[in-house]
Amino acid sequence: MPDLFETMENCRAMRRLKPDPVPDELVAKILQAGTCAPSGGNAQKWRFMVLKDRKVKEAVTVWYKKAYDEIIGPRYASIAPPPGVSPEKFKRQHDAVHYLTDHFADAPVWIVACLEDGASPGPSAGASIYPAVQNMVLACRAVGLGTTLTNRHMIYQKEVDKALGLPDGVHSYAILPIGYPMGRFGPVKRAPLDAVVYQDKWGVPYRA
Ligand SMILES: Cc1cc2nc3c(=O)[nH]c(=O)nc-3n(C[C@H](O)[C@H](O)[C@H](O)COP(=O)(O)O)c2cc1C
Repeated sequence: MPDLFETMENCRAMRRLKPDPVPDELVAKILQAGTCAPSGGNAQKWRFMVLKDRKVKEAVTVWYKKAYDEIIGPRYASIAPPPGVSPEKFKRQHDAVHYLTDHFADAPVWIVACLEDGASPGPSAGASIYPAVQNMVLACRAVGLGTTLTNRHMIYQKEVDKALGLPDGVHSYAILPIGYPMGRFGPVKRAPLDAVVYQDKWGVPYRA
């Protein structure tokens, strides 16, 4: 097992996944890591759906793809690379995003992270689910499985929640498509700390 810092530093988004089945024990281990996360007041209103049913995955993919065709694809084609990312790497990221869009339903297992958030879905509620989602992303990495945090489906959240068969007052916040990676894990590319951390006053670079 790699140590925690090594896991975080080498946990790039893995979007090209093999269709080989994922052992249930590993899925359970990943879910266990998810439920170790904090949530506001320890309310644990999270609910997770392990999804292998191809028909349901395909029904969700219709909306995931529609959001790509209408919004995400054109945006990728028109924006500059993010900080710390070369144009070549950004092009590779776009290709991988496109690939996952076309193969979303082929990932052997999805974990859909949902919240029983009643009448108040949104960012504040989301703060009580994304720590669990990131724990699961890191757990996947630790056991050699690839995944990527995805939430593009939320552009069509109502339609997707219906396709998932969620009851009223429950919303999906992230879908983790999980499988053995085709490629290798690798280091993430990010801006250096002094570009994003300030000390005492906004705009004054942090000096470690
Ligand atoms: C809130 C959020 C939503 C995301 N949604 C998607 C998504 O719908 N599809 C996708 O392919 N990647 C998605 N990502 C993955 C990001 O694109 C990815 O983490 C980012 O490009 C950094 O990639 P890297 O860790 O490989 O450097 C999402 C990430 C976050 C944090």
